[in-house]
Amino acid sequence: MALMFPCRLGHAAACFLLLVILSCAGPAAATRPAPAHGWHSFKRLQDARRGSRVTGLGELKRYLATFGYMPAGAGAEHSGEPTDAFDEHLEAAVKRYQSRLSLPVTGSLDAATLNQIMSPRCGVEDDHGVSGVVSRFTLLKGKPKWTQRSEPIVLSYAVSPTATVSYLRHDNVSAVFRRAFDRWALVIPVSFVETDDYDAADIKVGFYKGSHGDGGSFDGPLGVLAHALPKNGRLHLDASEQWALSLGDGTATTSESIDLESVAMHEIGHVLGLGHSTSPHVVMYPSIKALQKRADLTVDDVQGVQMLYGPNPNFRLSSLHNPSMAPERTSWVVFSARLLVSAVLVILVTHL
Ligand SMILES: *[C@@H]1O[C@H](CO)[C@@H](O)[C@H](O)[C@H]1NC(C)=O
Ligand SMILES: [Zn+2]
Ligand SMILES: [Zn+2]
Repeated sequence: MALMFPCRLGHAAACFLLLVILSCAGPAAATRPAPAHGWHSFKRLQDARRGSRVTGLGELKRYLATFGYMPAGAGAEHSGEPTDAFDEHLEAAVKRYQSRLSLPVTGSLDAATLNQIMSPRCGVEDDHGVSGVVSRFTLLKGKPKWTQRSEPIVLSYAVSPTATVSYLRHDNVSAVFRRAFDRWALVIPVSFVETDDYDAADIKVGFYKGSHGDGGSFDGPLGVLAHALPKNGRLHLDASEQWALSLGDGTATTSESIDLESVAMHEIGHVLGLGHSTSPHVVMYPSIKALQKRADLTVDDVQGVQMLYGPNPNFRLSSLHNPSMAPERTSWVVFSARLLVSAVLVILVTHL
């Protein structure tokens, strides 16, 4: 079973780990109060803009560094600790964040932006480079993908028998992942088989608390929900969340329940090599709210994964229900602009 990983992924992963280590285990970590439940302390930053100085902006800089929006040292003074000053580095990072998450790009911490920042999300950073004008999916840095000598590719997965949460049965979690893997398998020539041999499985699913040995640290309820490391097939879920097996099936929920099936779909996307999409309606968008369900693949997700693995010959794109299919104005603007430029060129050429 061969897995191709150009070394750039290694660098990206190392950077990500370094950022996490810097932000979680820096010398100030011991003295800093523990971050409030799910980033809700950021609420007091509302309406901060360039020139503001508000307690908590330093923490926001750390957040933006963790998810790939600013270099870890930017916005810091001599101590190396990010300051509470809203400087030009922070403004640039906020604009990048807004653009990535498809929010109005204002550069200030308006209500919509803060609401998005405080939403639970995936622990994988967003900085995966840009895709085309129309498509909004991205591939992970270095374009990692699974390869095997013979097609179709068969990947094994296992749900850890020990890294579990007490209130969920192993067979129920396993059934959720079965459904999620089946959805991805429908669109690409890759199949997934469950195995009991956790150590030998290509994809290893488990629930963990806090820092758990891979550099990516979980943070209690809400905040970071999960992460996946395609390089070694690890798919980790934060054991502190209130996981709902599948929202809408009548299982008990609280106002903070997170849909396991939606998060499983998203993290499998990373295991396959996809990065975060900028479209808020698709599986690969980086954040999801409590009680929200987003487990159906959309055209954007499918086009992304098919770019890596090609299509499953039995699958028709037109069979998908599709929120991201709404006509995109920008693409028409670009198209019309191109048409205009061509027309001008033709006129110039024919009249000179
Ligand atoms: C969990 O699995 C058991 C046995 O497979 C099944 O009877 C039960 O309905 C499942 N529960 C949920 C909430 O899916
Ligand atoms: Zn993600
Ligand atoms: Zn992990």
